[in-house]
Amino acid sequence: MCGIVGYIGKQDASPIIIDGLRKLEYRGYDSAGICTLNGGEPQIRRAEGKLINLENILKQQPAEGSRGIGHTRWATHGRPSEINAHPHKASGIVVVHNGIIENYLKLKERLQGLGHNFSSETDTEIIAHLVEEHYRQCGDFEAAVRQALGEVEGAYAVAILCEQEPDKLIAAKLGSPLVIGQGVGEYFVASDIPAMLSHTREMIFLEDGEMVVFTPQWMRITDLAGNSLVKQSKTITWSPMMAEKGVYRHFMLKEIFEQPRALADTIAGRLKSDEGDIHLEDLDFTDEQLQQLDKIFIIACGTSWHAGLVGKFYIEKLARIPVEIDIASEFRYRDPIVGENSLTVLISQSGETADTLAGLREAKGKGGKTLCVCNVVDSSIARESDGVIYTHAGPEIGVASTKAFTTQLVALYLLALKLGRARGQLSADDCRACVEDLVALPRKLEESLELNDQIEAIARDFMNARDFLYLGRGNQYPIALEGALKLKEISYIHAEGYPAGEMKHGPIALIDENLPVVVVVPRNATFDKVVSNMEEVRARGGQVIAVVSGEEPELAGKTDALIQVPETNDDLMPILTSVPMQLLAYHIAVLKGTDVDQPRNLAKSVTVE
Ligand code: G6P
Repeated sequence: MCGIVGYIGKQDASPIIIDGLRKLEYRGYDSAGICTLNGGEPQIRRAEGKLINLENILKQQPAEGSRGIGHTRWATHGRPSEINAHPHKASGIVVVHNGIIENYLKLKERLQGLGHNFSSETDTEIIAHLVEEHYRQCGDFEAAVRQALGEVEGAYAVAILCEQEPDKLIAAKLGSPLVIGQGVGEYFVASDIPAMLSHTREMIFLEDGEMVVFTPQWMRITDLAGNSLVKQSKTITWSPMMAEKGVYRHFMLKEIFEQPRALADTIAGRLKSDEGDIHLEDLDFTDEQLQQLDKIFIIACGTSWHAGLVGKFYIEKLARIPVEIDIASEFRYRDPIVGENSLTVLISQSGETADTLAGLREAKGKGGKTLCVCNVVDSSIARESDGVIYTHAGPEIGVASTKAFTTQLVALYLLALKLGRARGQLSADDCRACVEDLVALPRKLEESLELNDQIEAIARDFMNARDFLYLGRGNQYPIALEGALKLKEISYIHAEGYPAGEMKHGPIALIDENLPVVVVVPRNATFDKVVSNMEEVRARGGQVIAVVSGEEPELAGKTDALIQVPETNDDLMPILTSVPMQLLAYHIAVLKGTDVDQPRNLAKSVTVE
């Protein structure tokens, strides 16, 4: 969490940094700050709250200079306030930081003993003082940063300026993401790609333990010992427009409506229709290795974990391999039994989630194979996994995940088909039929989006409820969980997802005329069972919002609202039933006037434990 941006070149740094921070606000929005250098004293401006507050300060007191660093904060150490906002300064050293310094109390005590005074409650301020202490002794900015970083424990992505050496900007990374953008006669550095997309598409992804010294003319990448490293840049295919809201009121709505395109891009080039097989370009395992697998673990957090729950159904059904699924923060501490023939699948939109990354390292450390389903090219999880299936959703900016989720489901389905074919569990003909369903899916999702107006009307009817219950069975149970998560994330209404058959063991006690119950009930093997559960809700006065597939005349008069998505095969149905979940949460949140794209207390990329 937290986003950092740095710039060094000939242009005015301040607007470039503010524009970059705007693209990173999804990472945190408790406070924002900037520092520019103009050959004189560092110009620091900071403000509590969202970036707009900082922008207003900059209108009154511009910060000039062609070098600069900026920060948008998700508070860990110290409450959200101006005093705790980055950048932090110690004499001429100014720092922005994303991560957590774990030994900060020990370092703080030592520095206080040496006469340093601290003005914030943050761990970050330690870095500024530590660099300053070393700088005072060695008189070399680069050496001072290297020595200071050698002493800190924890995670960091930092960008640092030095008043006495204004032609240098130094950045380094350990555990938190950092990307370099290469311009002509200028350099950018940021926590994520969209912050730099409107200036360059040539990017270099830093690894842990790497440090960069930038001047306007050159840059040098080294390890912390000072050894030079040669790294190739990558050309990013995302366009700057993909990180803009365009005609949409919110990023979330834009991203919901982008799903047909995102699904089509995730499928493109991966279907071998003639052979009845799947091609996954970065899978990096031979069919023989796939045949030897005896177990699959799926590890993820949040919405990605919900995708994993659906993925378990896909893999067990189509490839007949047992799948264990874990929330990443649980997996890493439970000493899982990972063998060399196990495959651990990490699912992560950002590819930077700290717990998921730790789960990956845990599985690797135990000698297992790893594969990730990831949206961000060359992110930490993508780089460290043995194989990758990229979801081609494009940048997802809204904090509540939408298109990343449905593309994850597609990627997991492709993986299950591939495994099924490689292991002889699925015939070419059966695979071909699934491929046909996949090809038709983007069009069906487009049809589901036509429900937008109907769902907005339903949202009006139910927006004042205090609690919601979401029910589903089988592969629709994760969709019930995801529907409840979406609603609570952005509307702050309490919501629970439950397996429909389990309702009678507890949640049924909650049901009365004030409780809307969203029942996901497409036509499949458990349809009648779920309809019975629906009846149990109605018998107790609960209000039923049913999500069905195709026409269901027998449900006429049995629901308070009926939402009908198009039909597809049962495995792909969760992708279509996700759409009403997203739109219902979105419209309720808009009607309640919450901050849809940046809901309180949340961040999109959670790089702390
Ligand atoms: C945060 C976000 C969620 C996301 C989760 C996992 O909690 O708010 O939307 O699902 O992190 O993120 P990842 O990038 O690993 O998918």
